[in-house]
Amino acid sequence: MNIRIALLPGDGIGPEVVSQATKAIDAIARKFSHEVSYSPALVGACAIDKYGDPFPEETFQVCLKSDAVLFGAVGDPRYDNDPTAKVRPEGGLLSMRKKLGLFANLRPVETFSALVDRSPLKREIVQGADLLCVRELTGGMYFGEKGRRDGGDTAYDTCIYSRYEIERIVRLALRYASQRRKHLTVVDKANVLESSRLWRQVAKELEGEYPDVTVDYMFVDNAAMQLIRCPSFFDVLVTENTFGDILTDEASCISGSMGLLASASIGEHTGVYEPIHGSYPQAAGKNIANPLATILSAAMMFEYAFSLKEEGTAIRKAVEASITEGILTEDLAPKGSKVHSTSEVGDWVASYILENN
Ligand code: IPM
Ligand code: MN
Repeated sequence: MNIRIALLPGDGIGPEVVSQATKAIDAIARKFSHEVSYSPALVGACAIDKYGDPFPEETFQVCLKSDAVLFGAVGDPRYDNDPTAKVRPEGGLLSMRKKLGLFANLRPVETFSALVDRSPLKREIVQGADLLCVRELTGGMYFGEKGRRDGGDTAYDTCIYSRYEIERIVRLALRYASQRRKHLTVVDKANVLESSRLWRQVAKELEGEYPDVTVDYMFVDNAAMQLIRCPSFFDVLVTENTFGDILTDEASCISGSMGLLASASIGEHTGVYEPIHGSYPQAAGKNIANPLATILSAAMMFEYAFSLKEEGTAIRKAVEASITEGILTEDLAPKGSKVHSTSEVGDWVASYILENN
């Protein structure tokens, strides 16, 4: 197969972790005889520096012409403490999601048996947890009307959802649930928020389309608690943009590290495959960041963008082997054991793919 990948490493540790994922992709290409070409493009702070725009038109065109986008991270401390900044690196990621129509962000949370003791949660709580968080990605407060009034002293962000936006994401979540353990949890704050009441109303109307799926409803505050109290309760969880952002950072504790959580953002145009973590500027250039979330995002790319299941599995097997063999960066390496660098982990995973499938 001919595969055209847009490479958007972004800022901070983005370039380092994306380089490890391309090593894994190249290994897969050799092993399974695919022809892969990469088109690099700028996003985030590095794009602001060059174009004054965190998601320039050039980058958008590269994405549109590609079969999949591999994304690293955006964010730069130069902007974090400047509330007056007119453009922000994060705006690049948001424009990319909006312009590509990527309304669904799939964030699977799994446990690796060799890592259950690395989770801040007790072994008996995390063991066996396996859930898919379906986060709505182009609506809600992120994109609703926002602004200031009263001379700047009052600020607002609007959480707005239309029936259509809710229907398409809930339908997708129902479909994934029907392919998994047939349990969907709709997470909202319907006891307080009108937008959540519409979510609940629409979800209830759609329930009947998948009679084999059990649907339950949970308030987001309770869901935040249940996720760490009893994560194995969940199979598929669907929720709006902001709740999904927050709950998935929390859920990364189940796996043991933010550096393990991969995601796929899919919708109307080219899909984006991205780790859930940020640009971790303190670690940039130090070769210490965990590349596994990005490598696992590449696995999702093969599975979701190209329906190449075997290739995805080969990457996952290599990642699992690296974890079992203790080829781990500092976020996961047990105290006293050898800590591996970002590039050592990437090299190890790539050679495992070449030698073992
Ligand atoms: C994520 C990130 C982004 C988000 C930021 C960087 C805009 O936290 O992908 O979860 O809030 O969606
Ligand atoms: Mn986030």
